[in-house]
Amino acid sequence: MSLARVSTFAFSGIEAVPVEVQVQLSPGLPQFALVGLADKAVGESRERVRAALTGLGLSLPAKRVLVNLAPADLAKEGSHYDLPIALALMAAMDVLPREELAGFAALGELSLDGAVLPVAGVLPAALKASERGLGLICPAPQGGEAAWAGRGEVLATPDLPALLNHFRGLQVLAPPAPPALDAAAWQGPCLSEVKGQESAKRALEIAAAGGHNLLMLGPPGAGKSMLAARLPGLLPPLTPGEALELSLIHSVAGLLRGGALLTRPPFRDPHHSASQAALIGGGNRGKPGEISLAHHGVLFLDEWPEFPRPALEALRQPMETGRAVIARANAHVAYPARFQCVAAMNPCRCGHLGDAPRECARAPRCGEDYLDKLSGPLIDRMDLVIEVQAVPAAELARAPRGEPTAPIAARVTEARARQRSRYGADGPRHNAAADGAALEATVSLERPARQLLEQAAERMGLSARGFVRTMRVSRTIADLAGSASVGRAHVAEALAYRFRRPLRKAA
Ligand SMILES: Nc1ncnc2c1ncn2[C@@H]1O[C@H](COP(=O)(O)OP(=O)(O)O)[C@@H](O)[C@H]1O
Ligand SMILES: [Mg+2]
Repeated sequence: MSLARVSTFAFSGIEAVPVEVQVQLSPGLPQFALVGLADKAVGESRERVRAALTGLGLSLPAKRVLVNLAPADLAKEGSHYDLPIALALMAAMDVLPREELAGFAALGELSLDGAVLPVAGVLPAALKASERGLGLICPAPQGGEAAWAGRGEVLATPDLPALLNHFRGLQVLAPPAPPALDAAAWQGPCLSEVKGQESAKRALEIAAAGGHNLLMLGPPGAGKSMLAARLPGLLPPLTPGEALELSLIHSVAGLLRGGALLTRPPFRDPHHSASQAALIGGGNRGKPGEISLAHHGVLFLDEWPEFPRPALEALRQPMETGRAVIARANAHVAYPARFQCVAAMNPCRCGHLGDAPRECARAPRCGEDYLDKLSGPLIDRMDLVIEVQAVPAAELARAPRGEPTAPIAARVTEARARQRSRYGADGPRHNAAADGAALEATVSLERPARQLLEQAAERMGLSARGFVRTMRVSRTIADLAGSASVGRAHVAEALAYRFRRPLRKAA
C-alpha cells in the first residue's frame, strides 16, 4: 500500500489555500474514486486524468485507486486539480520520483491528449508556493506569471510527456522568464480627438486627478462614451504593489493573458444587461465581478439607468468600502474593489428631452421618471455630475483638435504627487480614498472656503456624504492648481458639480 502526495491550492477570493492531493493504491476491485468535497468540474478530473495517462501509454493499475483532496471540509472547485491528481497518481505508480515532487505545488487542466491547459489562479498559487518554500508546476503559457511572483523553481510545461522527460532528466524544461514590468505608455485613444467639450474635459481631469466618480448626462451622440474611454489615459501607471493586486484578481478570474501582468489602470465597461453576479461578483464559482476587475481603475457604466436595479443598488456598499463581499453557500468571499465609477446616461429614455422638436409627448415628466430609476444614495455617490451637450455638426468640422492626453496626464500626475506627499506612502491613494479623519486633518480649508461650503451645505441640503465628497473634490481642484490650502474658488467649482434637481441647463 502506498500513499503519494502532491501540493496544490484552492482559492478563496485572491488567497490561495493549500490543498494536498493524496493518492492511495490498494488491492481490491479496480476502481477510481475521488473524495474531498469536490464540485462537478473536479469530479470530471478522473476521466481527463485517466485519458491523459492512457495517452502516455500508462494504464491505470488494476487496483483500488483512491484520490483524496485534503482538507476534506474545504470546497474544491475548478479544473486545475487535474494536473496534481495526475502527478500524484504517477508518483503512486512509481512513474515519477516522489522526493522531487515533494518540492513542488502544481496546478493545471489536462486535455485528453495530455496537454496541460491554462487555468485561473496561477499568480496567487505561485505567491503562496514560494511562501511555503515550494516550486510550482504550471501550464506553459502561464510560466511568466508564475516566474514573476515566485522565488522558487517554476516548471511551465506544455504537456505531461515534457514534464515526465524533465523529471527523468531526458530533456530539461527551460525556466520561464518573468514578464518585464516597465509601465507601458498609454496606447488608447487621445483626448485631442474630442473637439470642444471644454467643461466636460475639465471635469474629466479633476476626476482623474482625485480618483472621483463622474456622472455624465446628455443626449445620444454628445460624446459621453468617447470622453469616458479617454479617462484611463489620464491616470498614472500602477505602482508595483497595485499591479500585483490587480493582476491577482484577473488571475483568479482566469483573465491574465500570456503571463503578462497588468501595469495600467483597467477600464471595464460592462453592458447594461450585466447581471448582479457579473457586476459585483459571485455566480456558482464565486468569481470576481466587473467592479473588482476594475480595481485601481475605471468602471464605466454606460446607459446607467438601464442596469438592473438590484445590480445598481449592490454597487453602493463597495463604492464606500472598496471591497466586494460575495455571500456563498458556506462562506463569504471578499475581493478588493477600489474602482472609480464613471456613469453616462441620456436625459430620458428616448434621449431627446431638451431637444424641443424631437421631444416625446411625455416631456419633461419622462426625464424625471428616468432619473427616478437611480436611488438618491446612489446619485449622492457621484462626486462630479455634468451635462454634456452635443457639439453641432458644423462646429465639429471647423473646431481645431483639442489638447492631447499627454500634457493633461502630466498635470494629473503632479496633482497625484501632491496627494501622495500629503497622505504618505501608507495613507490613502488619492483624495477620493481619503476618509473623513484623514481628510479633515489634511484638507486645510481657508476660512472663506469653509464658510461657503457650510452655507451651501445648508442651502443645497447636502447630505453628510455629499459634504465630505465636495470637500474631497475641492481638495483635488486645489491640488491641480498647486495650492497648499483650499480656497473659496476651489469650493465654488466643486459645488457646481454636485447633482441637483431640476437639472441645470448647461451653458
Ligand atoms: N466633441 C466631439 N468631437 C469629436 N467627435 C465627436 C464629438 N462628439 C461626438 N462625436 C462623434 O460622435 C460619436 C458618438 O459619440 P459617443 O461618445 O458615442 O456619444 P454618446 O456616448 O454621448 O452617445 C463619436 O464616436 C464621435 O465620432
Ligand atoms: Mg454612449
